[in-house]
Amino acid sequence: MIRHTLSFRFADGVDQATRESVLAELRTFPDRYPAMRGFVLGENVSTRDQTFTHTMAVDFDSQDDLLAYLGSESHESFVRTRWRPVIDRQAITSFEYTERLSLAAGRTSPVSTRPHGPYGMEYARIEVPDMQAAIDFLQYHVGLQLEQRTDEYAYLRADIEHHAIELINAPERTDGWTTAVGYSVESEDVLEQLRKSVADAGLEILDLQERQQALCDNGFAVKDPNGLIVELFTEFQEYAEPPHIEIRPLDLVHPFIATVKYDESLDFYQRVLKFLPSDYVVGSTTFLRGEDRYHHSLAIQKNTEHYVAHLCFAMKSLDHVMRMRARALYKGAPIASDIVNHSASTSIAFYMHDTRFGPRYELCDRHRVFTPEEHETHRPRRMPADPRNIDVWRPASDDWGRF
Ligand SMILES: [Fe+2]
Repeated sequence: MIRHTLSFRFADGVDQATRESVLAELRTFPDRYPAMRGFVLGENVSTRDQTFTHTMAVDFDSQDDLLAYLGSESHESFVRTRWRPVIDRQAITSFEYTERLSLAAGRTSPVSTRPHGPYGMEYARIEVPDMQAAIDFLQYHVGLQLEQRTDEYAYLRADIEHHAIELINAPERTDGWTTAVGYSVESEDVLEQLRKSVADAGLEILDLQERQQALCDNGFAVKDPNGLIVELFTEFQEYAEPPHIEIRPLDLVHPFIATVKYDESLDFYQRVLKFLPSDYVVGSTTFLRGEDRYHHSLAIQKNTEHYVAHLCFAMKSLDHVMRMRARALYKGAPIASDIVNHSASTSIAFYMHDTRFGPRYELCDRHRVFTPEEHETHRPRRMPADPRNIDVWRPASDDWGRF
């Protein structure tokens, strides 16, 4: 098959009625050119690039069919008389593809017989010495909405999921400490398989925290080799609507876990909990994904001590990341690592850190999501430990500062 795409922008002075009539004429093309298949035309809603206002895409069985359409008298006359006078700029691509790509487009799912891992990250539970200060920080600097608060705990959410952060009042602490991370699981079957895998590994199956039991259908907890509690559950409760906050995260994407037990931790998360490796920074960090196909829903880093180093929240856009960065600069909130361009997840992010509130908070503009086919076939890259492999905007291999 040949896919032919046309992205275009109307010239500024072209009135709405003319635009509509040109778009309407384009929509008649599948009737006029029967070799066209799967014609689609839509307005560009990208928040990343508004160079073009519309894109049209259409398939042909062969290159000859495409050329016959392009070279036809009726098409050439349309281009001359109707198109060129009103179009400011355009970009055309044509490419050949085989059935493999149509799998990636999701028409049918690749068959997978591998055991499934958890679906995606839902929350972190953090003990904090000053709960009000932590709430204020998470509301203003991360964009979370406070939903429930007692003297003992508080729930804050990012989107419709019940919560993304659970704070636990711990005045005896001087620094915040992450005690648990929660992952949803796609079905009871997968949950049972994971429970069996944990039991087969000789690890203790723990109950979910009591409040969490009431917020999902079924689940269990297990301690990772570092003592961090991992809670796994089905049917996490969700709200009918997201928070009515314009600048907020859309999702909690991953924890980044520093560990002295690197190999043991990898074995636990990969072999026992069935996370899949997405990329390695050799000898240093492994990025692991779950069934939601984010490039990583978990990162494990070899370190001289254990702690949850950061939690990553995905915002709606780079613009929103920069607005949060402006808030941090304005209030003097400590920016632990300024704007970076991650090679692993193809995201642009910055990190804030105040030890009272636990880990660093990473705010990023997006996060790579694998296609269903990539998810089944991706071969993890083995990247040398070089700062340019972590932040592609680093100019040199010895530029390790500012992380
Ligand atoms: Fe991250």
